[in-house]
Amino acid sequence: MRKLLALFLLLSSPVGAEEAAQTDKLVNLVHQDCGSCHGLTLKGGLGPDIRPQSLSHYDIDTLSTVVLDGIPDTAMPPWRPLMSEADAKKIAEYLLQGDVK
Ligand code: HEC
Repeated sequence: MRKLLALFLLLSSPVGAEEAAQTDKLVNLVHQDCGSCHGLTLKGGLGPDIRPQSLSHYDIDTLSTVVLDGIPDTAMPPWRPLMSEADAKKIAEYLLQGDVK
């Protein structure tokens, strides 16, 4: 894996009902959209296994950068046009922990 620079600082926002709804949306997106390549249960398909045990070499910032920018010259697309950096960070947390606070 090429080394990616995490160039941004992400702030966590307070948890509210709206935030919880947004989290549900993101978890759904991970299984539907990411799952179309990585498998519905994320254990791999066209794309590799992205369950927590397979991503332990990533930290949250690096992982959210992978989600935002994709992996050049591979089928892994950049998601920056479709989500905020905060959303990508949540997804990274979800992928690493299998859960989001
Ligand atoms: C069009 C298919 C496709 C979609 C959709 C897709 N990916 Fe990927 N993804 C790939 C492929 C292919 C790779 C492997 C790239 C390579 O060869 O390094 C990859 C690699 C990754 C990696 C790196 C895995 C590792 O072990 O280094 C992560 C993390 C990842 N994807 C997360 C996501 C997330 C999160 C989403 C949804 C927001 C997503 N992907 C959507 C195809 C896809």
